[in-house]
Amino acid sequence: MIKVKKIVFVCLGNICRSPMGEGAFIDLIEKHNCKDEFIVDSAGTSAFHVGEKADSRMRDVANSNGVKLMSRARQFVTKDLEFFDYIIAMDRSNYRDILSLDSKYEEKIFLLREYDEYAMGDLDVPDPYYGGLEGFENVYQIVTRSCEQLLKSVKK
Ligand code: 4NP
Repeated sequence: MIKVKKIVFVCLGNICRSPMGEGAFIDLIEKHNCKDEFIVDSAGTSAFHVGEKADSRMRDVANSNGVKLMSRARQFVTKDLEFFDYIIAMDRSNYRDILSLDSKYEEKIFLLREYDEYAMGDLDVPDPYYGGLEGFENVYQIVTRSCEQLLKSVKK
């Protein structure tokens, strides 16, 4: 029997980068016919945008690439550290905030760009919120290519 793998993407607001992570990963596992093997979610380290849909700019970029973002923002909580097998932080600040909740789960916490072949040592997915549309396009590119490697890694 296949053990379901539980994966959560985490950023600050849960309206831009982590909804894109969730949507891109779901799109990939649908394409690979392995949706039943995963529980996929996203959350934010802050409560700033709880209950909101993903930012319309992020949804537009995702939509134009055939990916639907269905999330509603929620805050990451300590119980998530226990529940999920893979906790994927979008930047090092998110990583520190997650780890500070309970450091005994350190081995489950990863940076998404550890899986980015083009990271060139930059392990943060840049926060696009206060910038222009090109920032959201950049997030889309980084997140989708990293998720492909992440899926390969978790399926091993
Ligand atoms: P996210 O982007 O962490 O990728 O969802 C942000 C969204 C909102 C804010 C910051 C980052 N904010 O400050 O409200």
